[in-house]
Parts: sequence; structure tokens; C-alpha cells
Amino acid sequence: MKELDPCTIVIFGACGNLSRIKLMPALFQLEKLKRLPEKMVILACGLEIYSREQWLEEVSSMLRAKFPGGLDEAALERFCNRHHYHPNPPDGTESYSRLKKIIEEDPVFPPNVIFYMSVRPSEFPGIIDNLGDIGLLEQKSGWRRVVIEKPFGQDLLSAQTLQAGLYKHLDEPQIFRIDHYLGKGTVQNIMVFRFANILLEPLWSHHYIDHVQITHSETLGVEGRAGYYDGAGALRDMIQSHLLQLLALVAMEPPVSMSPEHLRDEKVKVLKSIRPVTQNAVHAHAFRGQYTSGTIDGKVVPAYLDEAGVAPESVTETYAAMKLFIDSWRWAGVPFYVRTGKRLPENSSAICIRFKNPPKELLRSKLHDSSHPNWLLLGIQPDDCMKIEMQVKVPGLDLNTRSISLDATYREEADEDYDAYEGLLLDVMKGDYSLFLRFDEVEWAWRVVDPILKVWSMERNFINTYAAGTWGPRGTYRLFDRDDQFWRHSLNVNGAKLEPY
Ligand code: BG6
Repeated sequence: MKELDPCTIVIFGACGNLSRIKLMPALFQLEKLKRLPEKMVILACGLEIYSREQWLEEVSSMLRAKFPGGLDEAALERFCNRHHYHPNPPDGTESYSRLKKIIEEDPVFPPNVIFYMSVRPSEFPGIIDNLGDIGLLEQKSGWRRVVIEKPFGQDLLSAQTLQAGLYKHLDEPQIFRIDHYLGKGTVQNIMVFRFANILLEPLWSHHYIDHVQITHSETLGVEGRAGYYDGAGALRDMIQSHLLQLLALVAMEPPVSMSPEHLRDEKVKVLKSIRPVTQNAVHAHAFRGQYTSGTIDGKVVPAYLDEAGVAPESVTETYAAMKLFIDSWRWAGVPFYVRTGKRLPENSSAICIRFKNPPKELLRSKLHDSSHPNWLLLGIQPDDCMKIEMQVKVPGLDLNTRSISLDATYREEADEDYDAYEGLLLDVMKGDYSLFLRFDEVEWAWRVVDPILKVWSMERNFINTYAAGTWGPRGTYRLFDRDDQFWRHSLNVNGAKLEPY
């Protein structure tokens, strides 16, 4: 394994939610696994005025909350030794000069620097301007990289404006636009599954596939993030980024090689060939909803409008679903249904691919019998699994069929379990941007959702609702092309036959 360069990670927003829940735990896990470069230092920047000791207490409490089963104390000590704290008031250009002095003059801080923007999207352009203006992004004595969280902009135009701002100070290879879904092992497995096996390739097209469903459902609500979420909504928060990336991986052509550019070229081609939804067609292609109060896991949960920080008349969607067509040779006429929602009954992300019925259904005994098509199910989380549903004969004198599930679940007990951020943080340290988004991917993804966002932003008086703990508004079924298509909520055999609600 190539040794990683010593580096400094400067985390802006180090006291915030993302840092607490994802970044610190991921860095700590890497520490435990001894995967961090020996001379790597973490410089946490936050609005709070902490001393180093106070910050170390804060780090330990973040980690203890995340790993209630106990911490490896030796790893915790090593981890704490790497930490320093720099108070960074929002208006303080002076604090940037002090930051520069620390990074450039204190030998504790290696000159290769990663600046991680774990802040609200509206804040990072200002931070980058400040860093750029005082010369901290120039790669003179070491490399300088910037990690940016989604959402990248609010729409196509703002994304382009943001990008122009970044290019004033940074070259493209310095920018790591993170989509943590690409760091999930199960998401990478879509590529392995498709390109390391020949079996399904002949079936992977409109000739045999009836439609594709991509679902992300979660039981959580906005969880104190209303400040961001109420201005974003489910379409921006999940579909524009994570779910369109999943769609691109399912639909893309085999790349020339697995190099970052070849991979990204193929994903962009898919996004470019998604048929634009015209504003007149928005209602036929997209559906939104907002949760009212309901019950999840036996507990009553409040309506979205009653969550702290949500505007009283908000029509922000907490559920969004879309029907998309990819106008390519391979996918002509195959609908891709994509949906996501908060406060749904289960936490689950999955890709469900339904195959066409046989040309003549010789074994369908009665005309009103429903058909039993083959399904390929790729579970992304909570359990990674891969299943294929087929028909077999029911043992007995009569010729009846039954669905069975070929379960190719591949996880073995000893397999490593890791969080997406662990791999992605290592990639940034290595300078490998295969699993990060190129700007044209972001642009084309905005082009897909922009017309829908425009129409929804004009419809300020009404939004469909669904009770928390249900699978979203009923009206979402109008997206389906045919009566025999409906959302698949379960990956269990016969899940396809379950009541839609
Ligand atoms: C984030 C969204 O990007 O992804 C959240 O902002 C969402 O709203 C989260 O809950 C889902 O990620 P995961 O890894 O829990 O599926």
C-alpha cells in the first residue's frame, strides 16, 4: 500500500452535525485501523471559543455518543493527540490571517492541507474566498484540496455561479465534491455486479427490463436540520444527488477503464440522455408530499409543520417521486421510478429491477391471475443483499407455480464493515477523485430536476400530505405507466405482491 503524504485536515464547521455524526467517527475509525498517515493533524475550526482541552472533551463526547459500546482508549489517545482547535468567527477575516500563520509557520502542521467544508452550503463560498484571498489555496509548499458537501447550489444557475467562484481560487483537481452514496460499498458493488459478471449483460436493456425502481426511505424526520432542509426539500436533498447517481450507475455503459475520468464520462452520458421533463409534463412525471403526524415504531411523531424551525406555511416536500426516461439505445421506453421520503415506515435503500413477462404466459392458469415477473433486487442498506426472484413448480400433482428468491447475499461474517466517509476521507488524502463528482455531473443532474423545482416553487398553496409511518401520499401511484406497476416496498419474496399500502 502506498504511504500517504503527511497532511493537515482543516474542518470548518467542526462542532456541527455532520462532523459529530460522520466525520469525527470516520476519522476515529481510520485511527483505530491505523490507516491515517502518521503525521496527520486535525485542525478543527468552529464558531465556539474552545480551548484545546475543551475541544478534546468535545471530541471524546462526540465519539462516546456515536459508539455507546465503548471506545478503544489507546486509539482515542492517539486520535486526541492529532487534534487542535481554531476559533473561527464568521465575520473574522483576522481569524483567517491567524489560520494562515498557524499553517505556514507552525511545524506541527504539515503543508499538504485538506479544507473540509462541513458548513451550510451558503457559507462555503465565503470561506473559500477568504482562504483564496490570503493565498492559502496556492499549492506552493504542498498540495491544497477542498472538500465540498452537497447540495452544490440550489439549481443549475446557482451551481454554475458557485462553480465560477471556486475556479477563481482552485483548479478542478483540487475540488472534491462529495456524494457520500458513492462511498458506500454496496453502491460500488453495482459496478462490480454489472461489469465483473457477464450473465446479466444480455438482459440489461429495454428488451428484457420492464422498469427500474430506486428507493430511499427513512424513518427519521428533519432532526434539527430544518434550517437547511426547509429551503431544500427531498428532491434537492436526495434525488438530485444520491439517487440520480444510483440511476447513473445502473444505466451507464461499461466504461473504457475504471479510471476516474472514464467512469465519470459514462455517468454524465446517462444524465445527459435523461429526457427533459417539460414544465407542462411535471405533474405526470413528479409527485411531492409532506408528512403529517403519525406513528413510527410505536411512537407518535409530530407533523413536519410542527418541527422546530419549519416555516408555518411551508410547502417543502419531505417526499418526492419521479418517473424518468433515458433516451438511449439501451433504455428506450423503460421507465425509471425514483422516490425518497422522510418519516416512512422503514429505513431502506434499494434498487428493484422488474423484468418483462415471458412473451406467452403458458403457465398462467387463470386469466385473472396476476403475472409473476422476475425481479432483481439490490439492497443497499440497511442490509446489503442481492436477490433474484423466479418461478418454480409447486411440488404436487398439479402444475402450479410459486415465486422463490435466489439469495446471493455476499457478506461474510469476517468482512470489514465501514462507513462511506471512511473510504472517502482516505481517497481525499490519496488524491483519488473517482468517487467524487465532476462539475458536469452536477450540472446535468440539476438540468433533470430544475423544471420540477420551478413548477413546485410556483405552487405555494398546496402540497399533498401523508401520515408519518406510511409509504407516502397515495397519489404517487399516478406516476406509473401501467396498472401492473406499483412501488415495491419489500425485498422479501412475494414483496411485489404486497398491498401497495
Ligand atoms: C444526506 C441527506 O445527504 O443523506 C439526508 O442530506 C439524508 O437528509 C442522508 O438523511 C441519507 O444518508 P444515509 O447514508 O443515511 O442513507
